[in-house]
Amino acid sequence: MCEIVTAMLFPHADLSMPDSASCSPHTLSTRPYIIVNVAMSADGKLSTKERRQVIISGKEDFSRVDELKAGCDAIMVGIGTVLADDPSLTVKSETRVKERRSNFRPPHPIRIVVDSMARTPLGAKILHKGEGKRIIAVSRAADPVRVDQLRQVAMHSSDDIEIECIFCGEDQVDLVELCKELKMRDIHTLMVEGGGTLIMGLFQVGLIDELHTFIGNMIIGGKNAPTLADGDGFVFENEFIRLTLHTVSQMEDGVLVSWYVHGCS
Ligand SMILES: NC(=O)c1ccc[n+]([C@@H]2O[C@H](COP(=O)([O-])OP(=O)(O)OC[C@H]3O[C@@H](n4cnc5c(N)ncnc54)[C@H](OP(=O)(O)O)[C@@H]3O)[C@@H](O)[C@H]2O)c1
Repeated sequence: MCEIVTAMLFPHADLSMPDSASCSPHTLSTRPYIIVNVAMSADGKLSTKERRQVIISGKEDFSRVDELKAGCDAIMVGIGTVLADDPSLTVKSETRVKERRSNFRPPHPIRIVVDSMARTPLGAKILHKGEGKRIIAVSRAADPVRVDQLRQVAMHSSDDIEIECIFCGEDQVDLVELCKELKMRDIHTLMVEGGGTLIMGLFQVGLIDELHTFIGNMIIGGKNAPTLADGDGFVFENEFIRLTLHTVSQMEDGVLVSWYVHGCS
């Protein structure tokens, strides 16, 4: 089932081609094609009120997410997710890693952290696990010493690691500016794993093309537990983000729902 869902989506993005050879219509855009994927509880929570990482889906969904990740040029999270979950964001399946290599792509998508003040811990898994490039998007208000320390993690590593810090935005990362920078680096397809604050930031500036949610069979509850789209939220109906339903399918004990987003820029 997961193969069918993946193949039917990305109408404007060609995930089968190596980055430089991609020739889909979206290649002409000034930003990457952006796909958000999250797992949430039946009450829309991404984790607990303590922001502790929780298991919401099972093996089948993990495999679907790994496949989605392996098909993208880059994968992005907010600093909140790095601090809460310490993810590595590597492709887990050896077969998919080999397939990427045989398509002349790096083994893992470029890993990106949206981190205005360069708070990414120097020991974070995302910086150390797996070869390849990382991008830390910081604001111009970030401490230059801290930014330099992040860059130097790559220099002190024995692995084949590259860390680039991109400055965009004054006090907070400007996501529109960032996406233009990413596109200039040949990032055509970008998967966003969360969390809710970054996802809402992307929705607010019209940058999301597809939304995939695995909805698990549990209630987490808590008014302060993170949801799919946090931030300040919209007030008026005409501001709401409108979606077109693409597929709904049962997966394990939950449901996978995929949407296209209207009016993305
Ligand atoms: N279930 C799932 O699939 C899933 C996936 C991922 C995460 N999670 C959960 O989500 C939680 C973390 O979510 P979160 O909302 O706290 O953090 P987040 O969305 O990962 O990161 C938010 C942070 O990104 C930074 N940022 C910089 N520029 C931004 C912009 N223009 N717009 C929005 N954010 C910007 C801000 O920090 P600065 O101002 O310091 O830059 C902001 O606080 C954790 O509990 C984690 O377990 C769940």
